Amino acid sequence: MADLRKEIEKRRTFAIISHPDAGKTTLTEKFLLYGGAINLAGSVKGKATARHAVSDWMEIEKERGISVTSSVLQFNYGGYCINILDTPGHQDFSEDTYRTLMAADSAVMVIDGSKGVEAQTRKLFKVCVMRHIPIFTFINKMDRDANDTFDLLDEIEKELGIATCPVNWPIGSGKNFKGVYDRNTKEVMTFSDTLKGTKEGTEKHIAADDPALIEEIGQDAYAKLMEEIELLDGASAEFDMDLVTKGQLSPVFFGSALTNFGVETFLQHFLKMTYSPLPRKADIGEIDPFDEHFSAFVFKIQANMNKAHRDRIAFMRICSGKFTAGMEVTHVQGGNKKIKLSQPQQMMAQERHIVDEAYAGDIIGVFDPGIFSIGDTLTTAKPFQFEGIPTFAPEHFARVRQVDTMKRKQFMKGMQQIAQEGAIQIFQEYNMGMEEVIVGVVGVLQFDVLKYRLENEYNVEIRMDNLPYEHIRWIENEEIDMDKLVGTSDMKKIQDLKGRPLLLFVNAWSVGMVLDRNEGLVLSEFGRE
Ligand code: G4P
Repeated sequence: MADLRKEIEKRRTFAIISHPDAGKTTLTEKFLLYGGAINLAGSVKGKATARHAVSDWMEIEKERGISVTSSVLQFNYGGYCINILDTPGHQDFSEDTYRTLMAADSAVMVIDGSKGVEAQTRKLFKVCVMRHIPIFTFINKMDRDANDTFDLLDEIEKELGIATCPVNWPIGSGKNFKGVYDRNTKEVMTFSDTLKGTKEGTEKHIAADDPALIEEIGQDAYAKLMEEIELLDGASAEFDMDLVTKGQLSPVFFGSALTNFGVETFLQHFLKMTYSPLPRKADIGEIDPFDEHFSAFVFKIQANMNKAHRDRIAFMRICSGKFTAGMEVTHVQGGNKKIKLSQPQQMMAQERHIVDEAYAGDIIGVFDPGIFSIGDTLTTAKPFQFEGIPTFAPEHFARVRQVDTMKRKQFMKGMQQIAQEGAIQIFQEYNMGMEEVIVGVVGVLQFDVLKYRLENEYNVEIRMDNLPYEHIRWIENEEIDMDKLVGTSDMKKIQDLKGRPLLLFVNAWSVGMVLDRNEGLVLSEFGRE
């Protein structure tokens, strides 16, 4: 049992969120480099595959094989066992990207110092806030000209609504980037070029009151630093670990992932400021990670695009106890059926391998013969269910119908199965039958996936007409009379397959208008399962 505790206590499981190109991949590579999981900062994923065009998605799936994208990477560093969850962006952006955040205990937000807060970061950030997990900020690319530091922090606070507390402070940027000042140790770590991060840096640590510092960074930079530090000490939020843990205060770090600068410092602080897996909510109360019984929930299902292997991988986050290969568990949502989890897999750096054991905090992927749904609980304890995973707002909608009306049955079966995997959401017109189906997706690529899979796996040809809606809201108070609801001209009433009402809007501002026009109406951006 002592072993179990020790193993779990060294686990840290976090997601990296960012807008494409901010440097998420580069930062991940550098983490792995420090962890000794890769030698040279090689490639976590090939650049060629990272930047694909929409039409290439079949190729991407092929390359991914079955266990796909480096979804989870595990490595060891300084006595910790670290799981990094990737949140795919670009055209890969989908509901899965959001769901991945349900499996993380904290998040690292990478921001490009010259761009500030960007769209995808904003979206992912909202989910982190909903979960109240700690959020750490790494402001990257300081070796390039960056925005004013105070402006950057201001933007994060205003745009994202989280207080910030810089742990270190940059001295210049771009050609004039001299290093960072650590507010705690009152030392400056000087920046030296590492040839794009391929060679170890030779950073110097110089105390702020050491005259050698002026010589090192120059009088002007020194004067500016002193001025900024004084301003900062007077203006910024006090560091409060409790607020960090609740996700209300984000510790901020500056650096340059490409040149390896500030990455290890960041990692070290991050590990000290985060906790090992915490209890998770379930219908019987909180589940303690150190409980001797194994428990986990499914947060992602990956279908295999390869026709020869029409199987799926279910990714689950272990929440308590220890997993051992071949163990028998209860699949709660599967009618408490006892099953063996087969072919458990994990990613170590670039390689996928079979796992023999895994602990609370870890993510494993298991072979899924088509029995799992998103949110399912698996456990060796008496059956219980973990809190469900919300449904995230799709941003693209289309009306879908089968070309051959005789194929209705296959059409519906395929649609429901793909929806069960969590790749699409299906709706219908409010108070109308299932004559036509409205499909909502988070990333447009999912439309292509849907069309391809229906044709190839279910032999159903479909027609898709795009709809102009971009915003969806779930109606929280069920007592609202939908027929009396006062809408806007760009609003559409729909319902999900369980008959729960929702609203679609073309314009974001219409949401506010509808709220104004209907007293007591409560709308939500997340759906309950
Ligand atoms: P992403 O995963 O967030 O999409 O970003 P990624 O790490 O792929 O980085 C995007 C681009 O930004 C890459 O350049 C990368 O080299 C560069 N980059 C990342 N961190 C830094 C940094 O700290 N400083 C500077 N100057 N650049 C950085 P690319 O030209 O698109 O790719 P590559 O061919 O150079 O690898």
